[in-house]
Amino acid sequence: MTEAGIGSGEWGVGNRDRKQEGAGDGEQGLRGAEGAGDANQSPKLSSPAPHTPHPTPPGRLYGLGIGPGDPELLTLKAHRILTSVPVIAYPTMESGKVLARAIVADFIRPEQIEVPMPLPFSVERSSQPYYDTAAETIAQHLTAGRDVAVLCEGDPLLYGSFMYIFNRLAGRFDTEVVPGISSTFASAAMLGVPLTYRNDVLSIMPATLDEATLRDRLAVADAAIIIKLGRHFAKVRTILDDLGLLSRALYIERATMPNQQIRPIAAMNPADVPYWALILIPSQTRPQ
Ligand SMILES: C[S@@+](CC[C@H](N)C(=O)[O-])C[C@H]1O[C@@H](n2cnc3c(N)ncnc32)[C@H](O)[C@@H]1O
Repeated sequence: MTEAGIGSGEWGVGNRDRKQEGAGDGEQGLRGAEGAGDANQSPKLSSPAPHTPHPTPPGRLYGLGIGPGDPELLTLKAHRILTSVPVIAYPTMESGKVLARAIVADFIRPEQIEVPMPLPFSVERSSQPYYDTAAETIAQHLTAGRDVAVLCEGDPLLYGSFMYIFNRLAGRFDTEVVPGISSTFASAAMLGVPLTYRNDVLSIMPATLDEATLRDRLAVADAAIIIKLGRHFAKVRTILDDLGLLSRALYIERATMPNQQIRPIAAMNPADVPYWALILIPSQTRPQ
């Protein structure tokens, strides 16, 4: 399908949006009727208005939470939008690895336009120019009237890469965020542990924090989830040991994916810990 065909509203989502804009068409109809009344009194107004073509209405930006890895954990809404939009964007690593796309690969149709968003995933280089470039590409599709779904692993607004596109474009284009099942909550389910009861406070924190801050936060947490483990694993394990939390802490990598692993923290080689891993410390409360 050509881009012109896609932009002309053959897609379910785009059609729905354009129907909502029908309110604007109604106003034009009303103005037309007023014009006819004026025409009886003023010959000047009876001459036909020059034909001005309707500009293409801009597309809608979707931030699609696609869950932690198992495609069955996609919501019905995310599935509907994913399979309806003409354009799908997703982050890619420079190595070429593309987790978000892999999760929904079975649902993407050949005629959908794909926009890979390369990101450095590195502390040495700023992601900002990469997001600027990706946002500009997405903006061009939106301006041409094409709805764009940006895939985001887990939930888009919890440490999600979509937030950086949202911050650049939500003020310019109609935007809808579709929540997804976060890896944090999916991991509790996979580990089979209740996370929080009653007045417990849950803290979610990135392992990228400096050691002193991590230590302070973990020391007061009723329950905690430490994400972005990867090369920060050894630091986290030392802190957990110092705070006497090791026996409560649970490790999971690639939760809900076919290669999910649940391993004892003591048995882990720090060099083997991937980015897609987290440590969960459930509440100690045990009400019956
Ligand atoms: C940038 S955060 C994105 C979180 C995501 N928006 C969410 O709601 O799950 C990435 C971190 O989430 C955790 N994570 C994401 N998916 C995971 C999975 N399937 N299993 C374990 N941890 C995961 C890892 O700690 C990873 O470093």
